[in-house]
This record gives sequence, C-alpha cells and structure tokens, in this order.
Amino acid sequence: MQRGINTRGIHGGEKSDPVTRALKTPIYASNTFSYSSMEEFFEDAANAYGINPEETTYFYTRTANPTTNALELKLASIIGCKGTLTTSSGMAAITFAILANYQAGTKILASDSVYRSTNQFTSEILPKLGIPYDYLDFRDLNTLEEQLQDNTYSVVHFESPANPTMRCYDIKAICDLVHEYNAESNVTFDNTFASPICQQPLELGVDFEIHSSSKYLNGHGDALGGVIACNDTEILSEFRRQFCETLGQTPSSFNSYLILRGLKTIGLRVKKQSENALTIAKFLEGHQKVTRVYYPGLPSHPQFEIAKKQMTPFGGMLAFELKSQDHITSFLNNKLQLIKLAMDLGDIQTLIEFPYIMTHYDLEYDLKIQTGITEQLLRLSIGIEDIKDLITDLDQALNQI
Ligand SMILES: Cc1ncc(COP(=O)(O)O)c(C=O)c1O
Repeated sequence: MQRGINTRGIHGGEKSDPVTRALKTPIYASNTFSYSSMEEFFEDAANAYGINPEETTYFYTRTANPTTNALELKLASIIGCKGTLTTSSGMAAITFAILANYQAGTKILASDSVYRSTNQFTSEILPKLGIPYDYLDFRDLNTLEEQLQDNTYSVVHFESPANPTMRCYDIKAICDLVHEYNAESNVTFDNTFASPICQQPLELGVDFEIHSSSKYLNGHGDALGGVIACNDTEILSEFRRQFCETLGQTPSSFNSYLILRGLKTIGLRVKKQSENALTIAKFLEGHQKVTRVYYPGLPSHPQFEIAKKQMTPFGGMLAFELKSQDHITSFLNNKLQLIKLAMDLGDIQTLIEFPYIMTHYDLEYDLKIQTGITEQLLRLSIGIEDIKDLITDLDQALNQI
C-alpha cells in the first residue's frame, strides 16, 4: 500500500549514509569517485546511468551524484512514478523533454498558453533548428482533434493551470486524443503551477511530467532546479546519458540538497497555501476594486468543472484583474507591506507580479491578448503566512487605489 504524502516527503528516497550512518543525506561535493581496481570500475559501470535508480553508481557528478540521486528517489516517491531525472532548472527540463522526444520529419504542438520562456523556446529556438511547431488553444478539443488528424506531432506540450492566467485544460481528454491519433507521440506536461500535491498528470495519461523544482518542490525560493518524471527508467537512463552527460544540464549537489530538504514539507506547505489561496480568492471576488478573479477552486472559474476532476486541492496560485493599468500601478507602488513584488512563485512567502510587464513582457502582443494576459491582470503566489495578515495587507492596499 502506498504511504501518505507527508510520510513519503520525509522518508521517501532517503537512507542513512552507509559509511557514517548520518541520518540526513550529506552534500556530496565531489566531482568524481575513485575505484580500487578496474574490476570495481566495470562492476559500477553497469548501473552508472541509473536504469535501477535505487542502485545507481557514480563516476562523475555531471552524470550522477549521491545527493542528487537521493533527491531523484524522493521526487519519484512524492510524484508516484518509477523514476525521475533532475536538471539545473525548470527550463532545462522542459526544453530537453521536448527535444528528446522530437522525431525528425514530424512537428511539435504546444498550447498557446504556456510560461513565457517555454513560448520563447518554441518561437525562437525551434525555428533555428528547423523544427516545425504549431500553437493551439487546448480548451477547444474539436480543433485539437482536427489538428491531430491533419498533422503528425511527435511531441505535444502543455501546462495546467497555465501561467499566469490560471486557464485549465482537460488533461485526460487531451492525452487520450493525442495517443488515439498517434500512439508514438509523447505528451510532455509542465505541472509546476499545481505541484504533485494537487495534480497527478501521469495517472491521466501524460508521458513526461515536468516541474520547475525552483517553485513548490523546493518551496523556499533559494535554489533553481527542474525534474522530468516518468514510468520508464530505461528512457530516463537514456536521457541521463544524453542530457546530463552530453549536454551537461546537471544540478549542483548543493542545490539538490536544498530541494531535498524543502521537499520534506511539501505536503504541509501546499495544503496551507491552497487553503490560504481559496480564502483570498473569495475575499478578492467580493472586493469592490477587483473586477475578476481566476482561481480553479472558485465556481466562477471558466474551467471549474475540469479543475474539480483533476485537482485537489486547487493550489496556491491565483490571478485577478483590476479596472485599469493605472489602478495596477497605484496598487503596486509602495502600498503592500507584507506581500513582495517579485517574479518567483511557489515560495512560502506570498509574492505578487504584473505578468503583462514582468514575467511575460516580451510575449508577442497578439498572443498576450489571445491568452488573456491583459494590462489589468495580476498574479499572486500565495504563501503560508497567517491568512488574516495577508487579507489585511491586500485590503489596505486595494482601498488606497
Ligand atoms: C510554469 C513554469 N514552468 C517553468 C518555469 C521555469 O522554471 P525555472 O525558472 O526553474 O527554469 C517557470 C518559471 O517561472 C514556470 O512558471
């Protein structure tokens, strides 16, 4: 029987250090690992790429490292999959998962509503490599089906809820359609906004679940990282050889240690963040200065029924609109006392940002408007502070506009 999420957070993937019996996984700062004989080297080489993640052996940290391995095992335990590959950042994980699954002669299909740098990857990097791609609004399953009928896509990529608009997409329906039209094609899915606590996309048909570990997985805003999770350790082992060993997109053992430590409390953190977010969403919905709130746990959310099917709880992210850009500027100028104006998310500390000018600043204007990134939209990443303090801060700042 699978253990509960908090138990897995604490115990998953970690064992006492075999040499010192240290209870907590140490930071193995060594670049390399030595052998007493060539025989020992050949024995170790058998699992150096981690086909069996529990028995990974080490020769050079660019390929695998014991601290990072403990993180990968804990992530697999929390996500509920056979294996994971960690990377130096979330973007490293996304770009590699897309490229690694691409087959020459096919195309890539991406949702029109993805994180800005993911969009930048498709619109700026893929054309340089001669890789054709299409964008589509994945809310419309009929158009998606037509597109899948008329084209051969080896990779289909999307995220839900989407950054920053909180648009939600029917993960199972999309995966079923993709696999129906091309059993060979792979769905890569960015689960950063929901975190593995709120949403389990691998169970809904996604082939590769990706996270920016810099966000909810670490939770403390002090380490960059990314992860690709799936149920095929042979593929992950191949990715390790191609991506970490050859392309060198490996995390540092220090960052692995920080993320490993942060992960232990992810169950508690995201539960509290989700409770706070729901209360704040309801508060904002009733505030006279706020014109619209987007939170998947509110019945007013356009995809509430879809969100209910695939998310519990509804996470710590929300978006809301004020009347105009002037109102936004006034609200953000020196009024909030506790909540910081900053572009990160998933932190234990509440952060706010203005996507139109900040995170999504260089997204093509038409795409911004098409995907709802308006001059009135603000994004909030809710932390674990006491709810009354967060509401007091938002209320006093809104009332000063
Ligand atoms: C949804 C989403 N995916 C991926 C990323 C990229 O993560 P990283 O900053 O770790 O590269 C971000 C960053 O904000 C994000 O919001």
